[in-house]
Amino acid sequence: MSNKELFDEVTIGNLKLSNRIVMAPMTRNRAAEGNVPQAINAEYYRQRASAGLIITEASQVSPEGVGYPATPGIHNQQQVDGWKMVTDAVHEEGGHIYLQLWYCGRISHPDLLPDNQTPVAPSAIRPDGEAVTFEGMKAFVEPRALTIDEIKDIVSQYKGAAEKAKQAGFDGIEVHAANGYLIDQFLRDGSNHRSDEYGGSVENRMRLLDEVLDVVSEVWDSRSIGVRLSPENSYNSMSDSDPQSHFEYFITQLNKRDLAYIHLLEGDMMSESRDVDYRALRDTYDGIYMANNGYDKQRAQTALTNGDCDLVAIGVPFLANPDLVYRYENDLPLNEADQATFYGGDETGYTDYPFADKEVA
Ligand code: PHB
Repeated sequence: MSNKELFDEVTIGNLKLSNRIVMAPMTRNRAAEGNVPQAINAEYYRQRASAGLIITEASQVSPEGVGYPATPGIHNQQQVDGWKMVTDAVHEEGGHIYLQLWYCGRISHPDLLPDNQTPVAPSAIRPDGEAVTFEGMKAFVEPRALTIDEIKDIVSQYKGAAEKAKQAGFDGIEVHAANGYLIDQFLRDGSNHRSDEYGGSVENRMRLLDEVLDVVSEVWDSRSIGVRLSPENSYNSMSDSDPQSHFEYFITQLNKRDLAYIHLLEGDMMSESRDVDYRALRDTYDGIYMANNGYDKQRAQTALTNGDCDLVAIGVPFLANPDLVYRYENDLPLNEADQATFYGGDETGYTDYPFADKEVA
């Protein structure tokens, strides 16, 4: 048992958060031309600044890292300027915001990449399913296995993105190593069949994540860096032969880094199955553990009380309730989320969800 409460202040790294409720990263596909964050994005995040911490939607570290239309990047000055509007808005409201760094790898399509390049991956294994393109859904193609020189180049792209995140005024960064994107493609053995130093053993499969964390730690204090992991999420055609022991190894290694937190997508986005023992993973980790996937107020408080986590990241309810923290604190009813407006479009289903009437409450 622990005496943690949802509405308690908590310190992570150098930041004092006003509560333990985190806005989870959510792709919304509303960046402007050139994958540049725009005013409406700043308004969306401003509205949600009462979260203890906001983790932004994933943001690609280079044009080659793109995997979807209209997702924001963090690799040129226009994007830095766009994100600065976002961070200023959140800070004006007293909130805190981390940028999630992303490279999609095989979860992409030649239509989305410079010169219609073939997507890249640890191994030439085509994911099942379809990519989202400007012309609708198209079958994933077989990716090309990265060379070692190309891997080094991607690592340096993360460093450049980390520098730009700093220029854009973020409070920290989250390295997205989950949900079937490039770093996760290396971590899990269903997608990584390499026989060089980036494949085979757990140590080798973790090498890309380690190298990325090394370079971003040259830019940011490690205590301003989080890592997102998803041991058993099958989303994006992912699998692993032994997620419990493999992720216990990865998390044990992360203990050496004094990070802001680890952020676990628990279970599977595609089903109710939950075979991994997250309490064991949590107990493997010495620092702050952020839990995510399907939490509501009740489950979040129970998990905190049981000592299963330190922070809880909430996705869809935050999308539909800009004042989610206030509503939770006052036991107010929640707005329903409209799935039809999750991805792309304008302010409808983005910045027009109503706030609860504070007079009535
Ligand atoms: C998505 O766009 O579907 C998406 C992006 C990032 C995630 C998960 C899902 O981590």
